[in-house]
Amino acid sequence: MSAILEWSPELELGLGGIDDQHRQLVELTNALRMCIGREELGRILDALAHHTETHFREEEQLMADSGFPGLAAHQANHRAFSRRVSDARRRHGAGEWVDISSMRLIQSWLVEHLERADREFGAFLVAETRPRGTIARLLRRLA
Ligand SMILES: [Fe+2]
Repeated sequence: MSAILEWSPELELGLGGIDDQHRQLVELTNALRMCIGREELGRILDALAHHTETHFREEEQLMADSGFPGLAAHQANHRAFSRRVSDARRRHGAGEWVDISSMRLIQSWLVEHLERADREFGAFLVAETRPRGTIARLLRRLA
């Protein structure tokens, strides 16, 4: 994986607000891999933790509202990522060196999650809710 992950149509689910949040997380993980200063790293890890929690909460709510059967497994996957980010923050806060491979792992988890788990949900949402016309209503809340 090169140092910068370009956002591409393959990463889009076609779900407006969710795609915007995913794009923001990808940009933050890019910043994480490019940053050079200790303070900057702290700021990016804080922002990543904040945006991750907000995004996961909204995505999980959307899953619950739409009756997505994979919610529990998806939540467990989200929690594993949150633990990875908070572990990096804790180590950074304790003055430990957070190496580049930790940042790379954070980014590869995100890409893998977008390409597989979130795509499953996107497909479910479109298939299940489009006939009833509720997808627009569900997504409007995120706009
Ligand atoms: Fe997700």
